[in-house]
Amino acid sequence: MDVMVNVTPTPYDVVIGPGTRRELDERVTNLLPDARRAVVVTQAAVAKQAWFAALTLSIPYEIVLIGDGEDAKNFSTIETLCRAFVEMGLSRGDVVVAVGGGLVSDVVGFAAAIYHRGVASVTLSTTLLGQIDAAIGGKTGINLPEGKNLVGTFTQPLLVICDTETLSTLDEAAWRCGRGEMAKYAFLGDAKPSTDILGEALEEQVFRCVAIKAEVVASDERESGHRMVLNYGHTLGHAIEAVGLDLRAQGSLAPVTTMQHGEAVAVGLAFAARLARRMGRIDDARVVLHEEILEGFGLSGALPGDLSAAALLDAMSRDKKAHHDLTFVLDGPNGVEPVRGVDPAIVLATLMDMGAKP
Ligand SMILES: NC(=O)c1ccc[n+]([C@@H]2O[C@H](COP(=O)([O-])OP(=O)(O)OC[C@H]3O[C@@H](n4cnc5c(N)ncnc54)[C@H](O)[C@@H]3O)[C@@H](O)[C@H]2O)c1
Repeated sequence: MDVMVNVTPTPYDVVIGPGTRRELDERVTNLLPDARRAVVVTQAAVAKQAWFAALTLSIPYEIVLIGDGEDAKNFSTIETLCRAFVEMGLSRGDVVVAVGGGLVSDVVGFAAAIYHRGVASVTLSTTLLGQIDAAIGGKTGINLPEGKNLVGTFTQPLLVICDTETLSTLDEAAWRCGRGEMAKYAFLGDAKPSTDILGEALEEQVFRCVAIKAEVVASDERESGHRMVLNYGHTLGHAIEAVGLDLRAQGSLAPVTTMQHGEAVAVGLAFAARLARRMGRIDDARVVLHEEILEGFGLSGALPGDLSAAALLDAMSRDKKAHHDLTFVLDGPNGVEPVRGVDPAIVLATLMDMGAKP
C-alpha cells in the first residue's frame, strides 16, 4: 500500500505493509540511480533486532549508530553524524537512510538537510509513532537545553517505508506512545469520526493515519494554518509533559513524571473534547466518542492526580505553537480546527472539572 505525499517540487511515496523493508534497495536504486554510497543511521536497540538483518543495499554502505533518548537529539549528535558522512566519502548525490523511530528520523533528517547543503534521505520507520506521524511531513530537528525541537528544518525525505512487521519488537511504552497519536487521527480527515479504526488491521490503521497526515502536509507543508490540526490533543499533552519534567527535576515521583508522550496526548484529547463541549462546539455524544476511542486504544483520558490547573495553563501559554495567545485545536461543527483566543477562565474551569487543583 503506497500513499503519495503530494508536496512540491518533489512528491514522495510512503510504502506501508508487512515486509516492505525488503523493498528498500530496489526503491532507492530506482529513485537515485546515480548514488554511489549510502550511510545507514540507526540505534543499537534497532540494529539488534532479527528483522534488521534483512536490510541490504546494492551500493556500498556503512552503518552508524546514534544514542537513545531525547538527550541524544542534540547538536553533538549532528556533528558526529556529519563528520562520519565526510569520513565515509558521502557526496551530495548519495543517500542517508534512517532506520528507527521518530528520534532517528528527526535527527537524521536534520543532518541530511544540512550536510553539503542537503543530501537525499530515506526513512525506514520502525515505531508506530514514527510510521503514522514523525517520519512523514519533513519536520526535522533536534532539542536545545531550553526546549524540545527548537532547531530544525522543513525538508522532505525522498521515500518513507513503514514496515509493520518491524513493530512486532516494540515494547509496551512505544505502543502506548503511538496509540495516543493514532487516537487523534480518528477525528481528522474526511471520514465521519467513529470507532471504526479500532476494528481495523494494523496496516490498515497505519495506512489510514498516513493518508490523513499526507493530505494535511500537502495542503500546508510549513504549518502556516491547516497543518496545526495535527496538534490535536497536544496543547495540554505538551503542558502535562512540561509539568512532569519540572516535577521530576524536583525529585517528585508523582504519576505525571513517568507519563509517555502518547498518554499525555490521550489526556489532551479528552480535555480538548470537554473544552469544546464547554464552548458549545460539540455535544455530549461527541465527548463520549472521544472517551470510547481512547478506551479502545487502551488509553486513559483522566488527568493524573495532584496537577495544578494554573501550572498547566501557564505551560500551555508558553507552548511554541500557541502564537502568543491561547490557541487550541478543537472539534466543532466544521470538524477539528485551530481556535485562537480561548478564554483562560474556561480552560481553568475545564481542567478543574477534570480534577485539577486550582
Ligand atoms: N518530525 C515530526 O513530525 C515528529 C512528530 C512526532 C514526534 N516526533 C519526535 O519523535 C520522537 C519520538 O519518536 P518515537 O516515539 O518513535 O521514539 P524513539 O524514536 O525514541 O524510539 C523509542 C525506542 O524504541 C526503540 N525502537 C525503535 N524501533 C524499534 C523496534 N522496531 N523494535 C524495538 N525497539 C525499537 C528505539 O531505539 C528507542 O529506544 C521525539 O523526539 C519526537 O519529538 C517528531
